[in-house]
Amino acid sequence: MKDLESRYVDSLVERYGSPLFLVSAETLENNVKAFKRMFREKYPKTEVAYAYKANYLFQILKIIHKAGAWAEVASGFEYDIARRLGVPGGSIVFNGPGKTKEHLLAAVSQGALINVDNEEEIRLLVEISGELKKPIDIGIRINADVGINQRIDRFGFNLETGEAFRIVRLCEAAGFLNVICLHLHLTSYIVEPGGEGEYTPAQNIKLIWPKSAGMYEVASKKISKLAKKIKKELGVEIKYIDLGGGFPSIKDLGTYVSKVTGPLVQELGEDGPVLLLEPGRAIVKDAVCLITTILASRKLENGQKAVTADAGINILPTSYWSSQEVRPLRPSGKKLSNTTIYGPLCLQTDIVSRTLINKLERGDKIVVENVGAYNIPQGSPFIYPRPQVVMLEGGQGRVIRRAETINDILELEKVTNT
Ligand SMILES: Cc1ncc(COP(=O)(O)O)c(C=O)c1O
Repeated sequence: MKDLESRYVDSLVERYGSPLFLVSAETLENNVKAFKRMFREKYPKTEVAYAYKANYLFQILKIIHKAGAWAEVASGFEYDIARRLGVPGGSIVFNGPGKTKEHLLAAVSQGALINVDNEEEIRLLVEISGELKKPIDIGIRINADVGINQRIDRFGFNLETGEAFRIVRLCEAAGFLNVICLHLHLTSYIVEPGGEGEYTPAQNIKLIWPKSAGMYEVASKKISKLAKKIKKELGVEIKYIDLGGGFPSIKDLGTYVSKVTGPLVQELGEDGPVLLLEPGRAIVKDAVCLITTILASRKLENGQKAVTADAGINILPTSYWSSQEVRPLRPSGKKLSNTTIYGPLCLQTDIVSRTLINKLERGDKIVVENVGAYNIPQGSPFIYPRPQVVMLEGGQGRVIRRAETINDILELEKVTNT
């Protein structure tokens, strides 16, 4: 949100407090429409299912669905949010490795597309098929080597070993489950070589976003070839190819479109399966910024500057993975210097950004840009409660989630049976 006028922000902060999340309704809507349009121009049979995990505030989801996106959910909890919003089952893609029988049954009855993650889910779906006395259409999550050093076997069934093909054959032979979708999401985390087991569990896992367009080309080619093989050897028509999420912001999306659609058309033709895509970050990341106020400044031993802001990693947890993009709300003309921006938490790790920025003093406001993905849903009232979230729409601001209070927290502790 580069064009936020500082006077306007001042009055919003005065009214709603600091820190403050600001959401641009217009950017959300434009992102969904542009994402869909860009892919449909090359491959008309494209559907976009927004990945709820990136940000599932109801007012945000409403705009995204109104702009024409399906829902991609990764748990029964997210499935229920989609249904609460009135999303029809037929427009829900149900992913994730922890689906319960209860939610699988609901998803089957309501016509959602279930991408199966593991053999246990297959067993549950066979049971459900027996209980309902009808075969069930399913998708299969595939993992494949696309050139990222991932924990490749963390999700789904492997392509290269033939496991994925074997599972499809098994489902078809048993006659209970019809495989109609192949799903391959390129995860956003890579495992750095070496050190496995030596460090804490996640220490050698790094965020890569966006992945290179070439990886999508490999993924698209591999999955299209698998669909072709399934048709040829098992006579099974794959109706959906789902290439997951991980896409860059709209401004950088162009080259990804042809890398995804090219191999698909080449292998399966213009009128092949529906192409499903599950962007999260690409839709919400640049639609939200955070305004935070400087509380204190200090000089570090190495001579560099440091400031403490009133927003920390409890509300910006993605700062664990990469330094946030910040700018002063008002360009001050003061000297630029390398500055560490700490949050207010009593933690060494509460670092929001390390950046070159104009000298900051108590009371200055800074804008943390592009924080719409994976911060609000992962944020917690750790040491400080969560702040207001305000939606900007048609020149007006309205609170879409109010600031958390002690009472909200105490409410959860009112357990009546103890
Ligand atoms: C299955 C699946 N689809 C889509 C996404 C969304 O990814 P992104 O927000 O990077 O687009 C994720 C993210 O983890 C995912 O696991």
